[in-house]
Order: sequence, then C-alpha cells, then structure tokens
Amino acid sequence: MERFVVRPAAPLAGNVEIQGAKNSALKLMAAALLTTGTTRLQAVPDITDVQFMCEVLTAIGAEVGREDDGELVIVTPEVLTPIAPYELVEKMRASFVVLGPLLARHGSARVSLPGGDDFGHRPIDMHLRALTELGATFTTEHGYVEGHCERLVGKEIELEFPSHTATDNVLMAAVTARGSTVIENAAREPEVQDLAEMLTEMGAKISGAGTSRIEIEGVDELHPVSHRTIPDRIEAATFLAAVGLAGGTVTLDGARAEHMDMLLEKLVAMGMEIERIEGGIRASSSDRLRAVDVATLPYPGVATDYKPLLVTMLTVASGVAIASENVFTGRFGYIDELRRMGADITIEGHHAIVRGIDRLSGAPVRARDIRAGAALVLAGLVADGYTEVSGVEHIDRGYEHFVRKLGSLGVDIRCVQGGPRERY
Ligand code: UD1
Repeated sequence: MERFVVRPAAPLAGNVEIQGAKNSALKLMAAALLTTGTTRLQAVPDITDVQFMCEVLTAIGAEVGREDDGELVIVTPEVLTPIAPYELVEKMRASFVVLGPLLARHGSARVSLPGGDDFGHRPIDMHLRALTELGATFTTEHGYVEGHCERLVGKEIELEFPSHTATDNVLMAAVTARGSTVIENAAREPEVQDLAEMLTEMGAKISGAGTSRIEIEGVDELHPVSHRTIPDRIEAATFLAAVGLAGGTVTLDGARAEHMDMLLEKLVAMGMEIERIEGGIRASSSDRLRAVDVATLPYPGVATDYKPLLVTMLTVASGVAIASENVFTGRFGYIDELRRMGADITIEGHHAIVRGIDRLSGAPVRARDIRAGAALVLAGLVADGYTEVSGVEHIDRGYEHFVRKLGSLGVDIRCVQGGPRERY
C-alpha cells in the first residue's frame, strides 16, 4: 500500500511542465472510435485513468500503444466489439463516453452503467435522453445499458444542465448523424472545445463549441488525425494552490491562463500574485492568504474540481469564507479528512463554512478521489509534523509524476510502501 508522506515546505521555487488535460485526453481517445485507421494523440498524460481508457478501447477492438516519445497511437479496426464491460467502467465512469461514438459508428453499444462515487449521486439520464432524441433506443438490464440505432438523425436538443460528458457524448454521436444537430445549454469547458477541434480536423462540421449553443452538420465519414491535447487546467490549479499555501514563486510551463480566468481572479483576491507570461503562468505568494467566498459553477465558473484545493487554502487563510458546491452537491467527503488535520469547517447543506486557523496538524488521512487526494497532500504543506496520505491510487488516476513534480519545486514529499508511521 503506497502512501505519500509530506512535511511543511519552505517557499517553493522553480518551473513545472503542465501535463495534457485528463478530461480532454479521455474523450479524444474515445473519438478515435469514430474512424478506421491510426489516430495519434500527443500530450496524453501517463496516468491510470488513461490506462483504464486504453483497456476500454482494447476491449472494443482497437490496438493502443505508446511511442518512445510518449505519443499515444490508437489503431481502430473496421469491425468493433461495441461492449464496455463493468470491470472497466466501474474503475472509471468517464469511460461511459464511448457510448456516443459506438452508436454513431456501429449502430449498437452495450455499456455498463456507471455506479455512484464520492461525488454523490451521478446519473446518466441526460446522456440517454439526448441520444434518444437523435434516434437511439435504450434498454437497461443486468447493470448494462444497451443502445441501438440505424443512422442517427440530427435534432435540436436542449440539455437540462450543461453536463460536460453528456455534451461530449452527444457531440460525438451527432458528427455523423444525418442532417443538423443543435446542442442548446451545452457545456462550454475548454476540453469540450478541444474535442470539437479534433473532430473538426477529422472532417466534422461543428460551430459554436465553447459557447452554450453547438451546431453540428452531420457528415458521412471521418478520417483519423494527429492531435495535441490541451494543457490540464486542474493540474495547473493544483500547483497554484501549492504556491498559495507554501509561498514562493513557481512558473507553470504550458498552462493556459485563458482557461482559468475565474480561478485566477479568486487567487488574486486571496492575495496571490499571478502573472500571465508567454507560454505559461508565473505565480507568487508571500503573505498569509485572505479568506474569499467561492461557489462552483459550470465553465466559465469556478470548476468543482478546483474546490478541494480552494477549501484547503481557506483552512489557513485569515478570516471566514463560504465555499458553495453547486455542481456535485455531495462532494464534501474530503472535509472530514481536513477536519482530522484540525481544520475548522462546518457543512450547511451544500455550503462549507471555513474558518481559517494558523496551521493544520499533520495526520494520517485517506484520499477518496483524485482532487481530494491532491488537496490532502497540499494540506501537508501547512501542517505541523508530517501528513501521511493513503489511497494514493486515486491521485495517480489524474496526476502524472505528482511526487516528482512537487519534489522539484522544493516540497518535502516521499512515496513510501506501508509500514508504521512512527518511522518518520
Ligand atoms: C466532468 C469531469 C469532472 C468534473 C465535472 C464537472 C470528465 C471525465 N469529468 O464530469 O472531472 O468534475 O465534469 O465539471 O470530464 N448530471 C445529471 N445527469 C446526467 C449527467 C450529469 O444529472 O446525465 C448532473 C451531475 O450529477 C452533476 C452535473 O450534472 O450534478 C454536472 O455533471 P457533469 O458535467 O455531467 O460531470 P461529468 O461530465 O460526469
């Protein structure tokens, strides 16, 4: 059982290269199912969620491998096995995003229903309703959703909520549908734009990606392409939070400030200095952070994935702040772990009231999801003694070389295998 052991850090210094976006790469990989032949993807992070997606694509019949330079190569055959089994979807619910491309390409799909997770209730009703509007029919039995269609037919669809992966699924289903599709109230995330860009390079006709109205004119066929994944704004946010907590100056190479406007505004309001530089972001922090209220919203709002990082910053900021969760209202699991480290946080419905204290207190804590795990590691930067984070397999799902990257900035962090904590 691996654990990360973290000690309080001196001010951080150095440069860190931002990985490709997990939430983009997983969808770009699924998009490769829409063609026959060789798709090449650059800047796909080396994380376990990508490995899970490789397993899903392999189960469907694709050949997936990495070149020496890290490029991910997906060879999609003419004939697919359109099944995403429980063992794989259970490990990563984002694999549900193969449903749209499989229906478009194969006319049928059998995909395991994703279960619940630490974010609370996560239904897939919007995906199914939208794909039904395009002409698919679904049955659910024995834990699987089975979809069938002739060629899908374009339609004007309005999503009840700008769901990120529902938008991805519909987008991939609609690119080869007959006629035109409009997605109203579409998700506007930069990762949706990245997917739309790759689909356009493949021959799709899409306009409006990045706005809440996406228009798609169906084409008969797509062709494989080579595409570079955009940088991961959540990984970038994690290093920004590390600087906010430990102080110092760090340059995030490759980070795209324009994808993180709202977050950067919040960090400046908390007292950090943020500089948008050529090819990245430079961040500094020298004083105690100030408490600032935050509320998560779909893009361009403050992302729900940033929230565990922001709440951790607020635990040691001066003053009291309210952090409201409006996207996944059950996403508070990590707060009990922060409380074990001495944080003063009260939950009222979907609001966390965080009263800043001077220092946290190092403790053994457990990561229960990707971002919560990263946030607990960062909590260790401002916790007396040492913090031992277990459940690091969750962190590995989304962060490439997390320990090495933090270490290169001056964080005292080690990966250890089990054993009694007293030895530190
Ligand atoms: C994606 C991201 C995740 C991020 C989230 C919100 C990936 C792989 N994951 O997840 O990291 O935290 O966006 O930015 O890209 N909902 C329904 N019915 C549906 C679909 C969603 O009610 O059919 C609800 C969800 O329960 C949630 C809200 O809509 O309350 C938003 O979820 P959604 O945007 O779909 O999140 P994901 O795409 O699953």
